[in-house]
Amino acid sequence: MSARVRSAKRGARRTAARTRAGTAMTPAWLMGEAERARRMAYAPYSRFAVGAALLADDGQVFLGCNVENASYGLTTCAERTAVFTAVAAGVRTFAAIAVTAREGHGAPPCGACRQVLHEFEPHLWVYWRDHRGRILKRRLSELLPKAFVFERGGQ
Ligand code: THU
Repeated sequence: MSARVRSAKRGARRTAARTRAGTAMTPAWLMGEAERARRMAYAPYSRFAVGAALLADDGQVFLGCNVENASYGLTTCAERTAVFTAVAAGVRTFAAIAVTAREGHGAPPCGACRQVLHEFEPHLWVYWRDHRGRILKRRLSELLPKAFVFERGGQ
């Protein structure tokens, strides 16, 4: 793991890692990426657009938005779109995710998305906004204690 990525993993520290363009990979910067993703949301039913930006250990960022469906239950959240996009690109190690929704609404990841994120990095940094727009940050392990883990073998 590079020093740049180790720094991003620490997330909340003062000396943030930098993108190739020299931008500091701060929570605010990743949130800006999530805002970009939110513009792509397909949410004609709830009208609640959500965007996510997933920072991989190698510095790549994968964007995701919610994609709704006429059959409501088939909707996919922004966070899972980002995770599945990264995995489909061959990337499975992550440092942080930022999630953003409509202004005035706090949008921490839903339970299903927490479990999906846990699959790849139980200690992921999770950034989201509260209803006032302030960025909150927690480790995924704090948001999803005692996650389900599949134990192979036995009955
Ligand atoms: N949604 C997300 O994209 N992420 C979450 O963590 C919670 C909910 C989406 C799903 C649906 O399209 C809309 O928000 C309203 O629930």
